[in-house]
Amino acid sequence: MKSEIWAIGGGKGGTGKSFLTSSMGMKLALGGKRVTLIDGDLGGANLHTFLKIKKPKYSLTDFFERKIPLSDIIKGTEIPNLRFVTGDIRSLDTIGIRYTQKLKLYRHIKNISADYVLIDLGAGSGHNTIDTFLVADKMIAVLLPEVTAIENLYLFIKKVLFRKLNMLLGEHGLKDAAKKAWKERNTKDIKNIRELIRHIKDISSEISAIVDKTLADFKLYVIMNQVKNDQHIETGFSTKSVINKYFGIDCRYMGYIRYNEFFWKYIKQSEAFRPITSTGSTSQEVGVIVQNLLGDKQVKISEIANG
Ligand SMILES: Nc1ncnc2c1ncn2[C@@H]1O[C@H](COP(=O)(O)OP(=O)(O)OP(=O)(O)O)[C@@H](O)[C@H]1O
Ligand SMILES: [Mg+2]
Repeated sequence: MKSEIWAIGGGKGGTGKSFLTSSMGMKLALGGKRVTLIDGDLGGANLHTFLKIKKPKYSLTDFFERKIPLSDIIKGTEIPNLRFVTGDIRSLDTIGIRYTQKLKLYRHIKNISADYVLIDLGAGSGHNTIDTFLVADKMIAVLLPEVTAIENLYLFIKKVLFRKLNMLLGEHGLKDAAKKAWKERNTKDIKNIRELIRHIKDISSEISAIVDKTLADFKLYVIMNQVKNDQHIETGFSTKSVINKYFGIDCRYMGYIRYNEFFWKYIKQSEAFRPITSTGSTSQEVGVIVQNLLGDKQVKISEIANG
């Protein structure tokens, strides 16, 4: 059976993407699912630290440069059912990956024998990061309750949507329509992505229908990490509504994780599993998020009052 791919990104650095990829992977594996984690953050590959393992011999660079098959790069971890592919020292966006190599990687990822494949993306919103995000069945963004993180997410979504629209228009033989509209943005007084979308839709009724369907079908799952109070948790709701309204997509708030002051100690002392295998609050919060993602359930405001 085909695996379900989850990509964990969001634009800003240090929000907790690698932590969430590893901990959600652990939760799924402990629940009996077959899981493969991919460190797609080639430039800052550190997922192995969260998994308490040494960096394996082969990495994605060997896949790109030495044609080592992905199946030979996948390694087991201490947790049964949980396997892992490491990144490397170079970034997906700086390493000169050809388009065909990228498509080959995506093909191999789709063929991994697992129930779930989770891809940890690096910070930023370069071309390869965006394309890898778009390969996923579930696109997940990790946020912090900070203005800069939320602004970075808007920028990230803009790029993701623009790329997605471009790809779709290309599939309909209208490859240059979005690019043309983008180039014309100054002469046509296009100030933001909404106006750009309107401008693209004006090209023809066919394009308009494609764009409407793309936006309506576009689901983005948001997780708020390192929250310190209820107000931080509530930021998730406001962010979600702004994204839904502004971009016209279906953004869902899947859960939050409280700031855990002992976190760095676990990592430092190679007890990276502890927050997840314990009965502590971080473990429970990750568990709720995984259940919400599996059942497509969102956080409800009423839950916060009780939390
Ligand atoms: N809920 C939390 N409470 C406390 N510390 C946290 C929490 N989540 C993550 N951290 C810490 O924040 C730091 C960044 O986390 P992580 O490496 O997962 O972020 P990232 O988004 O993958 O970063 P990068 O963009 O650099 O890849 C780590 O030191 C991690 O231990
Ligand atoms: Mg990371």
